[in-house]
Amino acid sequence: MGRLEGKVAFITGAGAGIGRASAQKFVTEGARVVVAELNPETGKATAAALGDAVLFVPTDVTDESSVAASLDAGAKQFGKIDVLVNCAGGSIQADASVTDVDLDVWDTTIHLDLKGPFLCCRAGIPHLQRAGGGTIVNFTSIVALKGAFPGHVYTTAKGGIISLTQAIAGRYWRDGIRANAIAPGIVLSERVASRFGIDGENSDEDQIKTAMATKSRLVDDRHPFGYGMPEDIANVVVFLASDESRMVNAAVIPAEGGASAY
Ligand SMILES: NC(=O)c1ccc[n+]([C@@H]2O[C@H](COP(=O)([O-])OP(=O)(O)OC[C@H]3O[C@@H](n4cnc5c(N)ncnc54)[C@H](O)[C@@H]3O)[C@@H](O)[C@H]2O)c1
Repeated sequence: MGRLEGKVAFITGAGAGIGRASAQKFVTEGARVVVAELNPETGKATAAALGDAVLFVPTDVTDESSVAASLDAGAKQFGKIDVLVNCAGGSIQADASVTDVDLDVWDTTIHLDLKGPFLCCRAGIPHLQRAGGGTIVNFTSIVALKGAFPGHVYTTAKGGIISLTQAIAGRYWRDGIRANAIAPGIVLSERVASRFGIDGENSDEDQIKTAMATKSRLVDDRHPFGYGMPEDIANVVVFLASDESRMVNAAVIPAEGGASAY
């Protein structure tokens, strides 16, 4: 029996990167999955590759009515939603320090990286309550655990995710709902790999080797596990969504090779 047998997960941003890798692992572990993705091409492709256990619903996490409609469509198809994985997000290259950043970056980044997960929790928690409980997995980042990242707007958004996760955990445990956050280090999703000039068609091992050779400065040479692949993080998502983690609540799990600790 799979570790997520009987569960129905709503995964945002599941057309690419960590979200897609999570959708793949969830299906392997017996869950049914709603791929809530903005990009119709990648959303459809993810769903088509994973078969009947998956429903793609075009979703913009920054739009309250889109999120609500998408959750309703998923619950109608699969009977309930009891896992929320709020993965859609990411930094943009125009982000910069607080004194320099263009305020357009504030609007875009806070909308996607903070308001998006907030809206998904707002509309998603009633579904989890109706299901008799459930789990929420939010995405923060190593950048929220130490003040070294030059993109201050993204850092602000990801810091907010930690507080949001703790507040939700502290309020909705009464309904059997757990909420945790994952703080990845640098993960070679297609988006990040192409930003680093790394060929995403190469093997995982080659991609990590290239990242270490050309960008070791970013993991400070001391954190050889600091470059991960989407599957590495998806493993943590599966754990947090499963009953194996039933004692883990309001936690922020660093998945960054130790880089925030030493
Ligand atoms: N990759 C990293 O190095 C890294 C590090 C720390 C934290 N994270 C966080 O992990 C999460 C996933 O990162 P990733 O690198 O896998 O991302 P990614 O860019 O590979 O995938 C993000 C997906 O979200 C979708 N998306 C974008 N805007 C959307 C919207 N408004 N509504 C719905 N979907 C939308 C995109 O189309 C894309 O498919 C993000 O929250 C990111 O901030 C990533």
